Amino acid sequence: MRYLPLTEIQEGMFLARSIIREDGRPLLARGTKLTKGYLKKLNAKGYPFLFVGNRPEDLEFQGAISEQTFSQALGVVRELFLRVAKRKNLDFRALLEVAEFMVDEIVEKPVLYNIIDLHNHNQNIYVHSINVGTIATIMGKNLGLSRKNLRELATGALLHDIGKMCITKPLLKKGQLVEEEDQEMRAHPRYGFELIRDYPGVSLLAAHVAYQHHEREDGSGYPRALAGHQIHLYAKIAMVADAYEVMTSGRSDHRTLWSHEALTQLALDAAAKYDLNMIMLLAGSVALYPVGSIVLLNNLEVGMVTDVTPEHLKIEFLTGEDQGKEVLLVTDSLLKIERRLS
Ligand SMILES: [Fe+2]
Repeated sequence: MRYLPLTEIQEGMFLARSIIREDGRPLLARGTKLTKGYLKKLNAKGYPFLFVGNRPEDLEFQGAISEQTFSQALGVVRELFLRVAKRKNLDFRALLEVAEFMVDEIVEKPVLYNIIDLHNHNQNIYVHSINVGTIATIMGKNLGLSRKNLRELATGALLHDIGKMCITKPLLKKGQLVEEEDQEMRAHPRYGFELIRDYPGVSLLAAHVAYQHHEREDGSGYPRALAGHQIHLYAKIAMVADAYEVMTSGRSDHRTLWSHEALTQLALDAAAKYDLNMIMLLAGSVALYPVGSIVLLNNLEVGMVTDVTPEHLKIEFLTGEDQGKEVLLVTDSLLKIERRLS
C-alpha cells in the first residue's frame, strides 16, 4: 500500500482506503479500481493524496477505528452540528451510540492513532471532531480509564467544538480574526457547554470538555482562565488531542507538522500551556511515523511505513536489493528509522 500524490497515481491501481464524503457516505469504496474518470473527478474535488495499492491483496490497513464507524460518526456529528446551526431541537442519542462504538473498537485491540488525514484540503470541523474523539479515546484507554469513563470522554471530545456552530458563519474562516470576531470565537466553549449540559443521558463531564478545552495549564486560556487542577482530566486530554490534530492535519494557519514535530512542539510549550503528563500520554497514543510516511533507514535505504501498532512497525523497502519486500520493526530490531523524508 502506498500514500501517493494524485499526480503519481496510475489508472488500474486500487483504492486502499475509502473516500468518505462530508455527510459520511462513501464517495469511492476501498478496493475500487481507479479509472481515468475517477482520478479526474478526485482531482476536481481537491483530494491531493490517496492510499492505493497495486494489487487488491495489498490493501490491508488497520486504523484505530473502522471505516464504517468513521463514516457513521461523520454523518452523526455533521447532522447534529447542522441542527445547532439551524437552531433546531437537538437529539444526542445517535452521538452517544457512535461514541460507544468508537470506545468498543479502540478498547478491543492495541491501537495507535496512525492515520495521515486525507481531508487536508479543507477545514472540515466534522472530520476534526472525529479525529479528536479518536485520539482522546486512545489516550484515555492508555491511562486505564473504564469503559464508562471512556464513553464520557469520547462524547465530550466529539462535541468539543459544537459551540462553534452558534457563531455566525463568516467567522468560521481561516486566518487572522479581527478583535470583535475573536471575542465571539472565544465564546464557543461556553455555547458548547450550554448546548450539551441539560441533555438527559449526556454526562455533565462531557459538557465540561467543551467548556474547558481552551483553558491552559498556566491559566492563560479561556473562557474562565482556569489553571492546573481546576481543569478536568477529560478536558486536559481533549486539549492536547485538539492541538495535535490541528498541527498535523493542515487545519492551522501554520505549516502542517509531522507527528514527531507536533509532539516536540507540544513538549516545548508544555511547561506553560499543557500538563506534561498529557503530552507523554499523547506521545504513547499516536504513531511517530503514521502509515504512508516515507523514511530513511539506518542502512541508508528508503522505506515506506505500511502498518503501525503499539508493538510493531511494518516497512516496505522502496530502494535497494529488498525493494518491494516488507520487514517488521520491533523495539530491538537492528534496522531502525533515521528520519522521516515525506
Ligand atoms: Fe475549540
